[in-house]
Amino acid sequence: MTGTINLDNAFYPDLSQRQAVIAGGTGDVGEGIVRAWLKTGAQVIVPTRTDGRAEQFKDVLSDLGQPENLHIVTGHYGSFDDAQALAARITGQYGQVTDVVASIGGWWQGKPLWDVSPEEWQRYFVDMTTAHAAMARAWIPHLPQTGSYQLILGGSAVEPVPGASIISMQQAALLMMRRVLSVEAGESNRIAAQILGPVVTRARKRIDPDWVTNEEVGLVSAGIAADPAVTDADYVSYNKAQMLETLQKLAVYPG
Ligand SMILES: NC(=O)c1ccc[n+]([C@@H]2O[C@H](COP(=O)([O-])OP(=O)(O)OC[C@H]3O[C@@H](n4cnc5c(N)ncnc54)[C@H](OP(=O)(O)O)[C@@H]3O)[C@@H](O)[C@H]2O)c1
Repeated sequence: MTGTINLDNAFYPDLSQRQAVIAGGTGDVGEGIVRAWLKTGAQVIVPTRTDGRAEQFKDVLSDLGQPENLHIVTGHYGSFDDAQALAARITGQYGQVTDVVASIGGWWQGKPLWDVSPEEWQRYFVDMTTAHAAMARAWIPHLPQTGSYQLILGGSAVEPVPGASIISMQQAALLMMRRVLSVEAGESNRIAAQILGPVVTRARKRIDPDWVTNEEVGLVSAGIAADPAVTDADYVSYNKAQMLETLQKLAVYPG
């Protein structure tokens, strides 16, 4: 069944007392998350590794003018030390961060595992997994209990995709990271993930009407942040019908 979602009807929660870091916010899915969070009134901080990407991202959001709640910070977080230093710099400059959404890394596909090169393994498994772990360890001890730490993952975390072994293994590892973090943090932190099918983004040449959009993903992340009861949860939205259910469950869309 195809669900219909019109975000003009959505209930964006008031997150004006919150300050979120959207890691990977310059990316295809991240753009929608940033747009959704800006609609909530939150302060939105987007780290990016290069000044060039920062400028590109400002162009991408040029339809919003110059949103005063958006702060783009150039810095690396690909190692434990870099992420720790970046977190300290962001907190020093902007004050306490309440929420972190990690939408880090992209897609890779093309050959069976036995043909994967060391460089591909390093880039798509080691580097991306390390960036996620580095951000989690840099931020989680400093987030308030009312805040949230969220991961954006794909369905390859649970369904093997032929020719995409590295990403499937990496996403599965990150899903387990989410679950381990939850049991380790207990009641101290709210940790959740979204597990998504293909997402409609500006990079897509072909779009299926049953795919979820990056702004819907963003609204779910705002809904997770807004609901203090949400913790230790994975929201699965492979298609519009599941996304509609997720949005309604989080009370950010009419039921
Ligand atoms: N696109 C989809 O259809 C889709 C579907 C389901 C799930 N997802 C999930 O959504 C998440 C984001 O995917 P995406 O498609 O938005 O990716 P993307 O467009 O490639 O963006 C990835 C972002 O991650 C940041 N990044 C930081 N360290 C990185 C590293 N070592 N390598 C690559 N990027 C790094 C980049 O930021 P800077 O370059 O600015 O530093 C970039 O903004 C992933 O977990 C993916 O599995 C995506």
